[in-house]
Amino acid sequence: MEKLIVEGGKPLAGTVRISGAKNAALPLMAATLLTSGKHILRNVPDLRDTRTFIKLLEDLGVQCERKGDTVTFDSTHIRHSEASYTLVKTMRASVLVLGPLLARTGKAKVSLPGGCAIGARPINFHIMGLERLGVTCLLEGGYVDAEINTPMQGNVIYFDIPSVTGTENMLMASVLAQGTTVLKNAAREPEIGNLVDMLIGMGANIEGRDSDKLTIHGVDKLVPADCAIIPDRIEAGTYLIAIAATRGHGTVTHCNPAHLPSLLEKLRQTGLVVTEDVSTITVETPDTIKSPFSLDSVDIKTMPYPGYPTDLQAQFMALMALSSDTSVINETIFENRFMHVAELQRLGADIRTDGHTAVINGKGLKGLSGAPVMATDLRASSSLVIAGLAASGRTEISRIYHLERGYENLVEKLTGLGARVWKERE
Ligand code: EPZ
Repeated sequence: MEKLIVEGGKPLAGTVRISGAKNAALPLMAATLLTSGKHILRNVPDLRDTRTFIKLLEDLGVQCERKGDTVTFDSTHIRHSEASYTLVKTMRASVLVLGPLLARTGKAKVSLPGGCAIGARPINFHIMGLERLGVTCLLEGGYVDAEINTPMQGNVIYFDIPSVTGTENMLMASVLAQGTTVLKNAAREPEIGNLVDMLIGMGANIEGRDSDKLTIHGVDKLVPADCAIIPDRIEAGTYLIAIAATRGHGTVTHCNPAHLPSLLEKLRQTGLVVTEDVSTITVETPDTIKSPFSLDSVDIKTMPYPGYPTDLQAQFMALMALSSDTSVINETIFENRFMHVAELQRLGADIRTDGHTAVINGKGLKGLSGAPVMATDLRASSSLVIAGLAASGRTEISRIYHLERGYENLVEKLTGLGARVWKERE
């Protein structure tokens, strides 16, 4: 196992290039199962999770080949329709093969993903939606065994909560169904728009892109895709917060500022100067004439898109630990997404939690000091990196395989911004 060493206290400066979005790459890879032929996906990040998903597709019979950030998927021969527990337990997004496998073969047996550090992560909406399309779903032995012997029939599907992968699974399940399917209270994350664009490019007939109501008119045939993955808004937000936390001045490039409306607003409310261009965002800390810059405390409440993203909650908490006053963070999406709090406290952060609410008493920009900490889940890990970069002294982060799931070339990108970080064996 490896650990990440962070020598903190140095402002980040310069530019960092943002990779393709992990949470777009996974559903778009799943969509290559929908029709036979050679699909092309561009700007595909090379991460632990995308490598795991490629392994899953190869196990199902898809021939995958990466050339730089382009990956081809030849899904002519689907060998079988089962996603095993060994693969699914390491990445719950494997549930995304349910919809396309059923649309293509009428069968799918996928292990229930099980919970993860941030919550129980049920998939009842996915199963409800499939059953509304006529699929029989049997839950036994820790698997969803789904089957339909006739073409799926379009229907109205209402999500009690706008589920991101639930919406994506139903989009892929319904594009080849007979008749029309309407997804109500659908999630509106940009990654879903990326999937809609890919499916329409394959010949699907979908209305309502970016809205909470998607209408899918089933078609008889699809053609292979050639589609680019959108930039990773969560990676971009993570680097912007890291630059801010170190009182730096930096620019993220190859990103889409329109995908981060709430984060940019919240960063501006702290007093930071945030400027946007077509595909870049710059953040800098204005040193006022009368006194050195201090971060104003800002409250956040995580919400479905376009509200503040839960995947940037832990990172913003690290920033608020450095602010000049008290802030409140309310996590409304997942039931256990404060795993980073105990680790941030080891770095000197003054945080108290009560259920879904955390109260952070900021200790100022020099308020944290380095210590050994442990990563628990992907986004919690990135908040520890941010805190370590801002803290004085050395921070050692163990279990960094969590980080490698969602951040491509993290050490190289941080080093490029002037950070003193490197990996060592545990
Ligand atoms: C996606 O997870 C993302 N993962 C998550 O990112 C992200 O945090 C989440 O959306 C919310 O934005 C991918 O896209 C691969 P949900 P997903 O279904 O789809 C409940 C990361 O760090 N729910 O939108 O699994 C659920 O428990 C990951 O990159 C049900 O109750 O999330 C949660 O409370 C972490 N039943 C809420 O809905 C269901 O059938 C939203 O979950 C499905 C979800």
